[in-house]
Amino acid sequence: MLQNDLLLRALRGEQTERTPVWMMRQAGRYLPEYMVLREKYGFFERCQTPELACEITLQPVDIVGVDAAILFSDILVVPQAMGLEVQLIESKGPVLPDPIKTIKDLDRVRVPDVHETLGYVFDAIKLIKKELNDRVPLIGFAGAPWTLLCYMVQGKGSKTFDEAKAFCYTQPETAHRLLQMITDTTIAYLKAQVKAGADTVQIFDSWGGLLSPHDFENLSLKYIRQIVHAVKDEVPTIIFAKGAWHSLDSMAATGAHGLGIDWCIKPELARQFAGNNITLQGNFDPAKLLAPIPVIQQEVKNMLTAFGPGRHIANLGHGILPNVPVDHARAFVDAVKEFKHR
Ligand code: CP3
Repeated sequence: MLQNDLLLRALRGEQTERTPVWMMRQAGRYLPEYMVLREKYGFFERCQTPELACEITLQPVDIVGVDAAILFSDILVVPQAMGLEVQLIESKGPVLPDPIKTIKDLDRVRVPDVHETLGYVFDAIKLIKKELNDRVPLIGFAGAPWTLLCYMVQGKGSKTFDEAKAFCYTQPETAHRLLQMITDTTIAYLKAQVKAGADTVQIFDSWGGLLSPHDFENLSLKYIRQIVHAVKDEVPTIIFAKGAWHSLDSMAATGAHGLGIDWCIKPELARQFAGNNITLQGNFDPAKLLAPIPVIQQEVKNMLTAFGPGRHIANLGHGILPNVPVDHARAFVDAVKEFKHR
């Protein structure tokens, strides 16, 4: 039995004494304790060594007091397991030196046995569950197929992912074959995360908002829906599709338990679009954690009031920024914990 199961109860739509809180990318460069390990080990070495992944996962639980741990890993370990080389280059972000450009490149990609290729993730989860000792739930995760395709085709980060879009618009059959391969891998991957001990899973579609509503359905949600259907009866499932507010209704209709929203939509409107039968998660502007602490405290109150009591998980609208002072992150978490709905 978990000592703090606020997050899971909020996802199931049960009453909670207060709103649960965690932060996307909460294990990361804003924490000096993370930077110490970053000096010593490479990024994928940190992901692939269960003891390191475990230590990093627990840092924000111990240091900022969040109500959930999220596995320390990356969405790009899936393209890696599928056969593509992925590098993480300081100041450049992810680089895939041999991206997918044509149907011939699919010969280099496979739907792998996840236990053979990603076993280190499941070992990390087992260790994390042991070290957490039921203090808070553990969130597992994967990237949405569309967001992974963006990196697998573009080969690096981008503001527009124009090459990834051009690939989908000019070679739709190849794109859909790749999306289905990613989907099949992700379903096996998330099921194995759950088997290893993940209490809930989140699907990150960071670039879903780059697509028109029609293309979002065709290139992204169609595949997210398959993933949600495969795992939602095992654990509560959260979809975070940044910028895709236009499709909150169809995302809610997948049967997911939670929907992440960013700061570019009013909570009242998000609720109207999503309906009453789903938990909303968000939506603090990550850059607002750079504001003075009293401003953060007031803005947290405004956010919680706007969402209202119940079916809400406090979070940022995207990942925490590396230049956020730790005491500002803690002030955000504390302000949520202290708030009382009247
Ligand atoms: O949330 C957590 O604390 C868990 C760990 C986590 C990481 N990446 C660790 C990480 C999670 C959930 C992710 C997801 C992820 N990775 C996404 C989706 C969420 C989002 O922010 O949109 C995306 C798009 C990626 C791909 C990725 N990984 C990028 C673009 C970068 C470079 C940019 C950056 O933030 O540095 C990474 C590297 C990465 N993943 C770091 C961390 C802690 C920083 C690596 C470092 O410099 O130490």
